[in-house]
Amino acid sequence: MTARIIDGKAVAKKLRAEYHGRLEHLVAEHGLTPGLAVILVGSNPASRLYVNNKVKACAEVGIRSERIEMPVDVAEDLVLAEIDRLNADPTVHGILVQLPLPPHIEIRRVLERISITKDVDGFHLYNVGSLLAGSTIFPPCTPYGVQKLLEHENVQIAGRNVVVVGASNIVGKPVAMMLMAQDATVAICHKMTRDLAMFTLMADILVVAAGVPNLIVPQMVRTGAVVIDVGINRLTDGRVVGDVDFEGVRKKASLITPVPGGVGPMTITMLLYNTLRSAERTVGIGDPTEALLSA
Ligand code: GUN
Repeated sequence: MTARIIDGKAVAKKLRAEYHGRLEHLVAEHGLTPGLAVILVGSNPASRLYVNNKVKACAEVGIRSERIEMPVDVAEDLVLAEIDRLNADPTVHGILVQLPLPPHIEIRRVLERISITKDVDGFHLYNVGSLLAGSTIFPPCTPYGVQKLLEHENVQIAGRNVVVVGASNIVGKPVAMMLMAQDATVAICHKMTRDLAMFTLMADILVVAAGVPNLIVPQMVRTGAVVIDVGINRLTDGRVVGDVDFEGVRKKASLITPVPGGVGPMTITMLLYNTLRSAERTVGIGDPTEALLSA
């Protein structure tokens, strides 16, 4: 068996075109342009690159973006005051604080200050907890991207065995909750898991977000499994690879995401979508597909 490759770039492009259409409708019918505010504290080059990419993607799809840069030694109170200002600004529908933050700033205090109706990253405890209880306003972007890819490829979720490798708050735990909400049987594996292969071999759908290159080799994958690689690892030779031995595993899987070009392009796409949805909600526009997450 040779897996079909899930082209995340193409799916992201298609979705962004769809969102652009919805956005034009919002502007034409309601005179409303969605707005995203991004706060960047300090000058971490990776964070700067992520923020640049987010701002650029907003411009391409027609979302107004506001970029707020603060020095690395900024007082926490000033960051909180900026969030208060953005919470009160009706032209801002999404607020994102780029992580990591410098150590003198308490991340949870900052994330909890963001209005839950503008928390497009889905990192506020309300949204985190809602994933468990089933009334999420904003699903976190990377797990949401994984879900959208599976949906796009018509992968059945209900009744399937899902194994998630990696138990992070940003990817592993939320993706497990989201797929469990769709009636999958889910196991979460992590650093302390004994005999990882015993679990991964049970997976109909294997989601890997461990940050370890080549962690998943063909012997660990069931023939015909769907393999979603969320890892992004830069090797010493400059190559970017995922957590899965792509060339080996693609000979066994039925569907597989490449790195780069798989889940990666979906993350910002879902940020755009969360911002669009936030703006739509302010004028009472609903979306029946969201029932998926509120079961
Ligand atoms: N830093 C790394 N990934 C992310 C993300 O998805 N959102 C934010 N706010 N910061 C990040």
